[in-house]
Amino acid sequence: DANARLVIAIDGPSGSGKSSVSKEVARRFGLAYLDTGAMYRAVTWWCLETGVDLHDADAVVGAAETVPLELGTDPDEERILVNGEDVRAAIRGDLVTDHVSQVSTTVPAREVLVRMQQDIIRDSGFRIVAEGRDITTVVAPDADVRILLTASEAARLARRGRQLGAAASSNLEAQVVGRDAKDSTVVNFTQAQDGVQLLDSSDLTMEQTVQGVIDLVIRATDST
Ligand code: DC
Repeated sequence: DANARLVIAIDGPSGSGKSSVSKEVARRFGLAYLDTGAMYRAVTWWCLETGVDLHDADAVVGAAETVPLELGTDPDEERILVNGEDVRAAIRGDLVTDHVSQVSTTVPAREVLVRMQQDIIRDSGFRIVAEGRDITTVVAPDADVRILLTASEAARLARRGRQLGAAASSNLEAQVVGRDAKDSTVVNFTQAQDGVQLLDSSDLTMEQTVQGVIDLVIRATDST
């Protein structure tokens, strides 16, 4: 039923394959797609761009509240503009990646972004795949399907390295593991909470992982 609500919440650490899997699942079910990590990255980029001190929590919250962000939800066409500027590449660069945890660990800034994310989910008509770290627990605990996508540290590092290719920096391990450690201080995305399905993708291909998610969606929506 193309009108029935279907909110799929997917959390997991960096390099778990969340983004590619979530996007593909959105395409298969004809749903919108929300990359919440891109929002934390866009706010970080805006702070760096406008000279906001990332240690100043009030200033970071102010930036989150006022960031001129335009975020698309079409899984086939990524659209992320800040103040009219296309920041798709910039927000994935080392500078933003190395600073993003300062925004994501500022709890009141999270509250601002969580509200924005809940608005986006509502505006999709509750037909969306939303991915991040706290979607299953905080942003959309009432999602129709809630999945924690994990992968071993070795698998995650290998994937991130392949994803970045020549652009992979020498401190990739510190980036991936260190960032997850920092983020874990404010959100728990290492253990599946009650009602959240664990899917370990360490030994699965991207297509097998997509199938695994689709199976969980079918099971969850059949039993109702
Ligand atoms: O998934 P990603 O690497 O693009 O996420 C960027 C950063 O934002 C990462 O440090 C974790 C944080 N994040 C978060 O704290 N909560 C979310 N829902 C999504 C991302």
